[in-house]
Amino acid sequence: MADLLVSPQQTPLRGTIRVPGDKSISHRAVLFSAIAEGQSRVEGWLPAGDTLATLEVMRALGVPITVSEDEPNAWSLTVEGQGLCGLQPPAAPLDCRNAGTCIRLLAGILAGQPFPSVLDGSEQLRRRPMRRIVTPLQAMGAVIESEDGHAPLTINPASLSGIRYRLPVASAQVKSAVLLAALYARGATRVRQPGPARDHTERMLTAMGVPLRAGRHWVRLPSGKRRLRPLQMVVPGDISSAAFPLVAATLLPGSAIRVEGVGVNPTRTGILELLANMGASVSVEAERESGGEPVADLTARFDELHATSVSGDVVVRAIDEFPIWAVAASQAAGASTLRDAVELRVKEVDRIGVLAGELRLLGIPIAETADGFTIHGPVRPRGGTVSSHGDHRLGMALAVAGLMATGPVRVLDADCVSDSFPGFVETMQALGASMSWEI
Ligand code: S3P
Repeated sequence: MADLLVSPQQTPLRGTIRVPGDKSISHRAVLFSAIAEGQSRVEGWLPAGDTLATLEVMRALGVPITVSEDEPNAWSLTVEGQGLCGLQPPAAPLDCRNAGTCIRLLAGILAGQPFPSVLDGSEQLRRRPMRRIVTPLQAMGAVIESEDGHAPLTINPASLSGIRYRLPVASAQVKSAVLLAALYARGATRVRQPGPARDHTERMLTAMGVPLRAGRHWVRLPSGKRRLRPLQMVVPGDISSAAFPLVAATLLPGSAIRVEGVGVNPTRTGILELLANMGASVSVEAERESGGEPVADLTARFDELHATSVSGDVVVRAIDEFPIWAVAASQAAGASTLRDAVELRVKEVDRIGVLAGELRLLGIPIAETADGFTIHGPVRPRGGTVSSHGDHRLGMALAVAGLMATGPVRVLDADCVSDSFPGFVETMQALGASMSWEI
């Protein structure tokens, strides 16, 4: 396990960078291409710990995938789609590693297969709740068992029926698992969601010829024969990765950076709204489209921030950004409060409790609540030793906090940053950030 060493940043961050491909879209590109009819081509694909788990699992299900490593962190994939019913029985349990998106979406696909399978993953993944997918899939007729609501999941052949399902939480993973199972089900399926969970599944399936209808709070797959056309797309940069350098530039005096080719799907841009509400200078330029997803160049420059309160729908649209938002809030004048974010407690780690514990080690005053936290700023973090606890986004947020600190910060167990952002340290170094791996 590698440690990351961060020194107090003495100079502004400057420059133009790209970040690796979107993690949610990269998972889906492999999963959906695998069950399409014909050859798909995906460029700018993210080779991160989580997405590589999905790629290996689909190979274990008999899908030929050729990889060309054009750039270290942006691969091109050629996927030979096997059609909805052409996957092969796996020889062993399928290892989804740390990837919640992999296990939950794949469960939807495997629920409709004529062979049994077992889905498992790391100790971290085994702690995450699976009942949220098991319950609707069982209601569709799936024969699926879990270990008291957790992985491993054992799936046996079953014939599925469409469902009308109201999601108890605004989760794109659950919505996607139901929609994927619906491809194998008799009759129509309708899913209602309490908030605007990311819609990459709806966009990609539509681009692949599936006749989905969607509104802000619902998605419907009509009855009838389903087939997926092959996918051709360039994966946009991940806004959840771009958030780290963007926030760092916002907080470090004199900084001005540009991140090119970032996905700005409106179900993902909550962090831009939150930063704008705090007075940050982040702008969205040159909007265009790639594979049905909006893309833009984002620029950020230093500005003084003021506190803000966050609750409601925007929480879903910024759900992965609260570790780095907490760092921004610690530098903003006043009390910043997050509410309605109880989902953070079931992410890679408890991103309320564990985040609060680590930020306190750096002297940041943060008070936990059941569904969020309050941070009083601005407080310059002090140096010290903190841990990622194996959570990539917590590790990167702590590294950015370290740039603001009065003394050196060591982030233990930080190599997990490559679960979503391979090249994080090198990308930050390219902007002039004073961080490096301990050798
Ligand atoms: C994801 C959905 C979100 C998000 C996760 C990726 C996806 O999780 O936090 O990082 O790719 O569908 P939930 O669906 O559990 O909210």
